[in-house]
Amino acid sequence: STAMAEEAKKLAAYAAVDNHIQNNQVVGVGSGSTIVYAVDRLAERVRQEKLNIVCVPTSFQARQLILQHGLSLSDLDRHPDLDVAIDGADEVDDSLTLIKGGGGCLTQEKIVAGCAKHFIVIADFRKDSTALGQQWKKGVPVEVVPMAYVPVSRAITRRFGGEAVLRMAVSKAGPVVTDNSNFILDWKFEHVQNWKEVNTAIKMIPVAPIAGIDIRVQLSKRRVQLQAQQLILR
Ligand code: A5P
Repeated sequence: STAMAEEAKKLAAYAAVDNHIQNNQVVGVGSGSTIVYAVDRLAERVRQEKLNIVCVPTSFQARQLILQHGLSLSDLDRHPDLDVAIDGADEVDDSLTLIKGGGGCLTQEKIVAGCAKHFIVIADFRKDSTALGQQWKKGVPVEVVPMAYVPVSRAITRRFGGEAVLRMAVSKAGPVVTDNSNFILDWKFEHVQNWKEVNTAIKMIPVAPIAGIDIRVQLSKRRVQLQAQQLILR
């Protein structure tokens, strides 16, 4: 990354921390290279202003950052209600829809952001686009349970086109393994109009955290009940 890009990340990160973090807050800490500047600034403010801040990490990297800066580390068990979550993004469109997960930490990032009252995204000029896909050419990252990567990849491309590629590790033979021991598919999309629909549809593919509910069982049970009723009526 160029010196100008680094300067832009730093300026955006410092502004985000200075304008959106206050004393006595529980703060979700995102992942990536921009968040490093935000944690630098946060640690500086905690020291100088003697702030009382508790941090909840979104990745192994974030946890390391929090510890290295001597910030107070917590988790969603102890702090399930966050005041604010702060994170980078790979791309941001006009309606503030984001692509996240270039760094592979999207799942915990989304969980932690979902627990926060406010979600602050630090995005420098390189992340800005009118339609997603303009800047971040690598597609939408989708975390999957390893045994499901082929069916999930097919389910996504059959419904929405494009191509879903298993992300491969750089300094190891084989796929990238996330902090949750899962794989990542990078879905290179062609044309998407409704991101909300895509997000919901992808979430509905049986990939990963599946609720312990199976509609088929309920239906067949109902059928059994109906048959039993018919028997009684007869
Ligand atoms: C990590 O999984 C990502 O969501 C990052 O937050 C995102 O990729 C931004 O990273 P940079 O700050 O390195 O651009």
